Amino acid sequence: MKAIVCERYGPPEVLQLKEVEKPIPKADEALIKVHTSTVTTGDCRIRSFTFARWFWLPGRIMFGITRPRKQIPGWELAGEIESVGKDVKHLKRGDNVFGYTKGVSFGGTNAEYKCLPAQRLVGMDPSKIGHAEAAVLPVGGLTALFLLREAKVKEGQEVLIYGASGSVGTYAVQLAKYYRATVTGLCSGRNSELVRSLGAERVIDYTAEDFTVNGRTYDIIFDCVGKTTYSRCKDSLKREGAYLTVEWPFLQKLIASISSKRRIIFGMAPDTTEDMEFLRDLVEKGELKPVIDRTYPLEEAVEAYRYVDTGRKRGNVVITIDHERESDQ
Ligand SMILES: NC(=O)c1ccc[n+]([C@@H]2O[C@H](COP(=O)([O-])OP(=O)(O)OC[C@H]3O[C@@H](n4cnc5c(N)ncnc54)[C@H](OP(=O)(O)O)[C@@H]3O)[C@@H](O)[C@H]2O)c1
Repeated sequence: MKAIVCERYGPPEVLQLKEVEKPIPKADEALIKVHTSTVTTGDCRIRSFTFARWFWLPGRIMFGITRPRKQIPGWELAGEIESVGKDVKHLKRGDNVFGYTKGVSFGGTNAEYKCLPAQRLVGMDPSKIGHAEAAVLPVGGLTALFLLREAKVKEGQEVLIYGASGSVGTYAVQLAKYYRATVTGLCSGRNSELVRSLGAERVIDYTAEDFTVNGRTYDIIFDCVGKTTYSRCKDSLKREGAYLTVEWPFLQKLIASISSKRRIIFGMAPDTTEDMEFLRDLVEKGELKPVIDRTYPLEEAVEAYRYVDTGRKRGNVVITIDHERESDQ
């Protein structure tokens, strides 16, 4: 089968389209014929190995000392079951599913086929939710859902979504609206219309206005792009407000927990298919709209990674796999 292979850390050009061995499902796994996969910011970070300096050694231990240990990037996928292991009873060949690979290293979904534990896959009806829309749900959608729920977001609260135009951000705006909060989205002017269309009542252009000096305070400030800090936001948080972030500020959390009633919340979304079903159902009911910025065929993955590397993507970037073409050749 064809897959994108990353044999060394570096720029997008290190990625190669290669012929690799098709995986065989273990007893509890399903082999998925991948229709759509994605390129996330996390995939780009591992590929380029651009992490904070202190993370160099732990990062190399996690991902591979001299080169990536797992070499096929991509965490998310949607596609069709090709075959299942002997213990899998609830899925069969031809079922449409979506899911993601859990873990800190490359996930292996930028490929024509991928095996995943069957328990981690969620069924989907392509007439109600497209493969591309389903594939972009897990990483950004689950992260936004998990952090907003941890903060116990509720009706009437004032919520600021910082970095509202990214993957996590576009879901965070819509999910905060779903929980009936009043949402202010912070993004650049070129994304104002998008963020407003997702339901934000107010939009702040971060290139023109500093939200920390306008005197407005929020119950929740959610940094969806890791571009601000608790220290910078804390005066804009209400006394018992919550600062949510996609980063991991352990020390700040400890200090804040001693010195104030405000909370700092971060972490990785738990691995539950219920939450993926919840997001899928919202999409099917028209209450959540996955934002897809650009779509690239697997053969043009280098271009897709170049684009995500710019840090300017809106929502999500999709990789499509044309199996018809594969069988024609
Ligand atoms: N903790 C977890 O489990 C977890 C899970 C998923 C993701 N993440 C992390 O979350 C981060 C965001 O990922 P993502 O894919 O959602 O984001 P993303 O799509 O990469 O974010 C790109 C967006 O951010 C906006 N942006 C760039 N600089 C900004 C700034 N200074 N202020 C406000 N907006 C800015 C850009 O809009 P403009 O071009 O208009 O500025 C662009 O639309 C990544 O660091 C990722 O690794 C963590």
